Amino acid sequence: MDVNRTISDVRRSIELLKKEGKRIAFVPTMGALHQGHIELIRQAHKQGDTVVVSIFVNPEQFGPDEDFDSYPRELENDLQKCRDENVSLVFAPDRGEVYDDDKKLSIEIDSLNKFMCGAIRPGFFEGVLLIVNKLFNIITPDVAVFGQKDIQQFQIISRMIQEFNHNVELVMAPIVRANDGLALSSRNAYLTAEQRTTAPGLYRALQFIKKQILDGVKTPKLLIEHQISELEAKGFEIDYLDMFSLKTLHPENTLQEGQKYILAGAVWLGKTRLIDNFLIEL
Ligand code: PAJ
Repeated sequence: MDVNRTISDVRRSIELLKKEGKRIAFVPTMGALHQGHIELIRQAHKQGDTVVVSIFVNPEQFGPDEDFDSYPRELENDLQKCRDENVSLVFAPDRGEVYDDDKKLSIEIDSLNKFMCGAIRPGFFEGVLLIVNKLFNIITPDVAVFGQKDIQQFQIISRMIQEFNHNVELVMAPIVRANDGLALSSRNAYLTAEQRTTAPGLYRALQFIKKQILDGVKTPKLLIEHQISELEAKGFEIDYLDMFSLKTLHPENTLQEGQKYILAGAVWLGKTRLIDNFLIEL
């Protein structure tokens, strides 16, 4: 497995892979790899002949009061996991390799970030689009795999590919969960043992609401409010928990047959932010 730290090195590696006629499947990550990332790598193997992973904690997607400094960094561990999964190439640049101190451009998002995490974390998705745009230009993958876990990120990237004419196929990998339902996340490492036992409450609340909706509830507002109160009583602080249109990412109070929705929540347990979602097709 090659590990490249600079853009010029990784471009050379990619050129060689392309000369060999390889179809490149790309998995962008911020490292601290867990089974969710591994699932993305396995999906990538199904999509291409060779898998490229990037590991970069992207400063542009962290707000000033967020956890950029404390975000887990475990490069050696991550590289071993990539080797074990037959990854061909890892791109792990330093901040200075990716960003110029004199940066003068940014990407604006018109509407897909008005709700969900976009409403709570200003600048977050602009930072994500900036780095994914750069990585697509550097790696020039044929296909890229992202997780349903970050469904708003997936939808916004999908739109960027369309509007910026990236020649990349996008594939969604399902959410990988612990046995008790908690969606795996690098940030779960922040949870205390006690918080870890409470944490699957978000998954259970979403699962309960989903079941009621599939059983025929078409106006889930009260049902959702009740679940929010129950979560608050357990010690969660709620950023949001609601139904959203999959297409517009706007909240929806009245559900209609034939439409696709995201039932999504973002909550805090102490200093740890947890997100989770279900896709619901009526
Ligand atoms: P990161 O949080 O490291 O996640 C990298 C990829 O792994 C994302 O596509 C995310 O949706 C997926 N993922 C995380 N947890 C998962 C789980 N439990 N099951 C399935 N997939 C999961 O998302 C980012 O990094 C960054 O925003 C990035 C796209 C790399 C840009 O910096």
